[in-house]
Amino acid sequence: MSETKPCRVVVLISGGGTNLQALIDAQQAGQLPVEIAAVISNRPDVKGLQRATSAGIPADVLDHTAFASREDFDRALTTLIDSHSPDLLVLAGFMRILTAEFTGHYLGRMLNIHPSLLPKYQGLHTHQRAIDAGDSCHGVTVHFVTAELDGGPAVVQAKVGIKAGDTAETLAQRVQQQEHIIYPLAVNWFANGSLHMQDGKSILNGELLPPSGHLIDCTG
Ligand code: GAR
Repeated sequence: MSETKPCRVVVLISGGGTNLQALIDAQQAGQLPVEIAAVISNRPDVKGLQRATSAGIPADVLDHTAFASREDFDRALTTLIDSHSPDLLVLAGFMRILTAEFTGHYLGRMLNIHPSLLPKYQGLHTHQRAIDAGDSCHGVTVHFVTAELDGGPAVVQAKVGIKAGDTAETLAQRVQQQEHIIYPLAVNWFANGSLHMQDGKSILNGELLPPSGHLIDCTG
């Protein structure tokens, strides 16, 4: 992206929007060279919409329950997103399974954050599943989105230790602290042209990233 024209980002949310807030905060602090062109939620009345409005960002609701099929919703969502001409689409707690048509349309320009060390624990209840499995560490992954659910190439992972007595809530809290660091980092890499996807792999500064993506180890 050129310095005069910052990377245009559309953020999709379904809920509280703490990751959205981390992006807004980084952008407002001058640490993230993006323009957040719009925030779109598939659920009305969520806190993330208030966060957008408070930051002066256009906030839209496209309620999935008003659509007869997943395909119809994803097509309407595509039209709405593209009306904002994004360079990058950021899924920040957007809790929808996406059609292949949708993922294909944004291939290489859509990031997601998932609260596990992918490929472990795709889907829901990741914190509890990591505790139940007796894992010693857990974490969070930012990845490019492909047609495979939570399956696209990883960009960055933060690894967090699981402590004796951790509950899903206490563990989620520590993982979320890392989410709020690694998502602005990954978006920054994309926005400044350091990061892209090529042949289904993540490339950072011209180097192929390992399957974990860039790894930040916070277990120490
Ligand atoms: C985050 O913990 C994110 O990792 C998770 O939803 C939460 C949204 O929080 N995403 C997924 O589980 C995607 N599969 P937020 O609305 O406060 O950013």
